[in-house]
Amino acid sequence: MPLFKTIQFSSTTQILVWKISESYEELYDAIILNDKNSIRLAGMKSQLHQRAFLSVRKLLNIAGYTDFDLYYDEFGKPHLTDGKFISITHSHDFSAIIISDETVGIDIELQRDKIIKIADKFCDTEYQFLNLENKEKFIRKLTVIWGAKEAIFKIRNEKGISFKDHIIVNLFDLNNEEAIAELHFNNLVKDFKIYFEEIEGFTLVYAFQEGI
Ligand SMILES: CC(C)(COP(=O)(O)OP(=O)(O)OC[C@H]1O[C@@H](n2cnc3c(N)ncnc32)[C@H](O)[C@@H]1OP(=O)(O)O)[C@@H](O)C(=O)NCCC(=O)NCCS
Repeated sequence: MPLFKTIQFSSTTQILVWKISESYEELYDAIILNDKNSIRLAGMKSQLHQRAFLSVRKLLNIAGYTDFDLYYDEFGKPHLTDGKFISITHSHDFSAIIISDETVGIDIELQRDKIIKIADKFCDTEYQFLNLENKEKFIRKLTVIWGAKEAIFKIRNEKGISFKDHIIVNLFDLNNEEAIAELHFNNLVKDFKIYFEEIEGFTLVYAFQEGI
């Protein structure tokens, strides 16, 4: 399947989601990579990763960009040469990008039982509103929390940020598909607006930093 979903969030923010069902060859067709990314693609161990990487280039094309408009900084964070903000995510058979005039982060995660086992590593105050007895909702909420923290990390990209100790996701309702989160780090508090939606057992989360 090609483009799975477009979310025109506002006049300055667009989210594009790809469902990766094509072969490597199909995805590679008509894609031109810059030298660094050609080398990177060739060095990837799994074809799943390669296909995800190529699907992101398809999304870039749809948004009016090519691989030559994208570069990575020393931390692996992607940037666009025209100064717009971009964030990238991929997980199993989905990939997504967000492009905005604002600082943004995006994450897509598969909802799976395993997240319960690692919840202690990234949750703390969130336990106040998590109901452990409803397993299905617990997993879905944990996946939102995890995705929100990943998306915030992608915005801030600061060494030393702990998901458990420094990022707080406030009480939210799964039906509202919105949340508020805070980063407490280096004597600063930053607020974030979180949006999420569930797609075929995956949770797509994107974050905007408020009041920069
Ligand atoms: C870098 C990191 C954010 C990537 O997230 P992920 O869920 O593993 O993978 P995703 O597919 O969602 O995102 C990968 C994309 O993030 C982007 N990315 C990589 N490093 C990044 C960084 N430092 N800042 C922002 N974006 C980054 C890249 O675009 C990458 O895709 P690409 O290289 O194919 O273009 C993540 O691995 C990480 O380091 N997280 C923070 C560490 C941490 O504290 N983890 C757990 C605590 S319990």
